[in-house]
Amino acid sequence: MKETYTFTVNGIERSTDQDKPLLRYLRDDLHLHSVKDGCSEGACGTCTIIVDGRAVKSCVLTTKRAVGKNIITTEGLSDEEKEAFVYAFGSKGSVQCGFCIPGMVMAGKALIDRVPDPTEEEIKVALKGNICRCTGYKKIIEGIQLTAAILRGDAKIETDLEKGDVYGVGQHAFRLDVREKVLGYGEYPDDVEMDGMVYASAVRSKYPRARILDIHTEKAEALPGVLAVLTADDVPNNKVGHLQQDWDVMIAKGSITRCVGDAICLVVAETREILEKAKKLVKIDYEELQPVTSISEAMAEDAPKVHSKGNLCQSRHVTRGDAKKALAESKYVVTQTYRTPFTEHAFLEPESAVAFPYKDGVKVLSSDQGVYDTRKEISIMLGWDPERVVVENKLVGGGFGGKEDVSTQHIAALAALKVNRPVKVTFSRQESINFHPKRHAMEGTFTLGCDENGIFTGLDCEIYFDTGAYASLCGPVLERACTHSVGPYCYQNTDIRGYGYYTNNPPAGAFRGFGVCQSEFALESNINLLAEKVGISPWEIRYRNAIEPGKVLPNGQIADCSTALKETLLAVKDAYESNPGRAGIACAMKNAGVGVGLPDKGRAKLIVHDGKVELYSAASDIGQGCATVFVQMVAETTGLGKEMIVNKGANSEVAPDSGTTSGSRQTLITGEAVRMASADLNEDLKEAGGDLSKLEGKEYFAEFFDPTDKLGADVPYPKSHVAYGFATHVVILDDDGRVKEVYAAHDSGKVVNPISIQGQIEGGVLMGLGYALTEDFPLKDGVPQAKYGTLGLMRSTQIPDIHAIYVEKEELLPFAYGAKGIGEIATIPTAPAAQGAYYAMDHVLRTKLPMEDTYYSKKQKAVK
Ligand code: FES
Repeated sequence: MKETYTFTVNGIERSTDQDKPLLRYLRDDLHLHSVKDGCSEGACGTCTIIVDGRAVKSCVLTTKRAVGKNIITTEGLSDEEKEAFVYAFGSKGSVQCGFCIPGMVMAGKALIDRVPDPTEEEIKVALKGNICRCTGYKKIIEGIQLTAAILRGDAKIETDLEKGDVYGVGQHAFRLDVREKVLGYGEYPDDVEMDGMVYASAVRSKYPRARILDIHTEKAEALPGVLAVLTADDVPNNKVGHLQQDWDVMIAKGSITRCVGDAICLVVAETREILEKAKKLVKIDYEELQPVTSISEAMAEDAPKVHSKGNLCQSRHVTRGDAKKALAESKYVVTQTYRTPFTEHAFLEPESAVAFPYKDGVKVLSSDQGVYDTRKEISIMLGWDPERVVVENKLVGGGFGGKEDVSTQHIAALAALKVNRPVKVTFSRQESINFHPKRHAMEGTFTLGCDENGIFTGLDCEIYFDTGAYASLCGPVLERACTHSVGPYCYQNTDIRGYGYYTNNPPAGAFRGFGVCQSEFALESNINLLAEKVGISPWEIRYRNAIEPGKVLPNGQIADCSTALKETLLAVKDAYESNPGRAGIACAMKNAGVGVGLPDKGRAKLIVHDGKVELYSAASDIGQGCATVFVQMVAETTGLGKEMIVNKGANSEVAPDSGTTSGSRQTLITGEAVRMASADLNEDLKEAGGDLSKLEGKEYFAEFFDPTDKLGADVPYPKSHVAYGFATHVVILDDDGRVKEVYAAHDSGKVVNPISIQGQIEGGVLMGLGYALTEDFPLKDGVPQAKYGTLGLMRSTQIPDIHAIYVEKEELLPFAYGAKGIGEIATIPTAPAAQGAYYAMDHVLRTKLPMEDTYYSKKQKAVK
């Protein structure tokens, strides 16, 4: 006789005879989708629930071990608690992508129940097991503090804030998605349930480089509940890829794999359990081959070719003036080689998609950074007109560049069309780590010169990127690494060569900073060495060279009126100078908008429907908050309140293409399109005497395009990008060499949502500190060695005091209310500033990331 396991969930007695992870029971049997599955390995905390008063990760507890226990999920909070958390998290800006949030809420509740007035330290300890990759934890801690105060009766909920009658640009705007994310009812693709839905998953290569001799699928196919096993033969066009179509959907029999993320076949089954059983029944015969595991191996003359055209994937040569002559004539010159590792995005939501037959094609519910890009890749694979494929974003649980390429969406579509039913594909955490493109590992040699006053004369550098098995966005990422290797300074002689090589490592592509994290780490470190030679401070040398409005950047672009790098330097001057011997400083610039002559268009449509303004624009909100920013822009332009404006989200069927969420572009490029459409609506609204009902059914469409020049354009002052954001970070160490404080001053033009921009800065800084100090992605013969829990992601107990500062100039760009993007730049200067701080402390030049011989490296070693 089967045993029955009985426990209480949210006040209701529940029984099951299945012994399985409690996470799966809560999600699959009780449909409590606030309990998120971030790793199923006990490492991320997204599935945190309360069991007998204690915060517990539900993936490590089983139904059997839960017998007799009292379980609470976010759905089981009292109304009072729900309202307190929603208000506090919205008011404090605690929510970005939201995937970690219900787990944070439950960890917070467990603490507040025990300690009604918790200290900051107590909250940090309570959240230690919960990773947030977006926020830098600070605003979550503040959210929990405010929740506790409300529940104690020491603070009040101001209902007007969420209602948002005043919601214009620059306001303390309560994000649109706070309630659904805090309470956990907002849907990410893995939360979608549909009638008749089945599951698919790929069997992936055991080896990074191996010939597929045979694929035995018969046993899997014979298993009851298996609907199909697809191979490369079932794919109309087996090559996909974001820009270069070099990525096999599945590796065909007789072909050679390129990395361990490669799919060999795709199993479709009625249930998750059958799917896992069936995958184990697939037998693949391999001929294991020697993998190419480094740039130098890939460059060797006799290297095996990862792709038939050879191992050089992309190269760039960016030059202006005469760097050779300028360096030869320089008073001081520094040459140094730097190495940076692959970095895993570690977004909390593993890739997931649900696809189903739709009209004369297929519809995909997705979690990505550009629904039109996903549509394009799927339609290439199917050989269809793009219009037959509809892609709609559900909530996106973080991206940071890692969700630009298709991952689950195309195979879900393929499976759905094969079995003619809705199909869900959700990556396991390890599959996610093995599959999606990382930040490129770099080796670069930088030579920077200056005159006797520290004024830069020229830069020569050679940058090598490991782009792994597939190109992904190697071309543009390498290009940005090259164009930004000069830094935000004013000098005119540059010679920059960049090369991206294929290897059998996991692919590399877009990651917050888009190549610039690597090259600015090298440049900014060289600047400190030059300052030393000149005999001036690292702050001073930067200030003397800093770009200003009207001056010419090393790429020839004239800095526009909004440029405020010097203001960011001044904002951190005291912090830097009052901590001698323990402070490091670094500057950065980052383009907003794709630029370099590409048709980078923002589009938006407003429709007056049912007495409200509906906003249509296929710009993916991946947690950074652009959906809210657009509504603020409509509100600012028209004077309407938040409740009158409905953002209909990113859906390729109804919303105009507004490009990828990449290149810190959405606030500026799509934001301007939204502003333009809103201005037209406002004109009509004025004529209608402010009566929106008179405009019922009217549509307002706008497209924004500000042309730029191609890379290397033969014009005196090429305009490479529509705008640049600028920043200066100062990292301050304590006596033990721990990061105590970070001052992060940013020029991102007009600040649309102050709380939100602070959250972006804090999250970016913490990601930058991880890059500098703790995060690594070790590979053994091309095989990732890291699990989610060993990536070195910073935890709540490790955060320094982060001071997010934004400088707003009077002079602004004439687009999008003068806003420039903040998405990427917040991550860029932190690592070189941290390196500078250690150099100031012990005079050891650390040229490799993550840095060795620091408080953090010693701690990690001790743990191992
Ligand atoms: Fe925490 Fe995105 S808001 S992971």
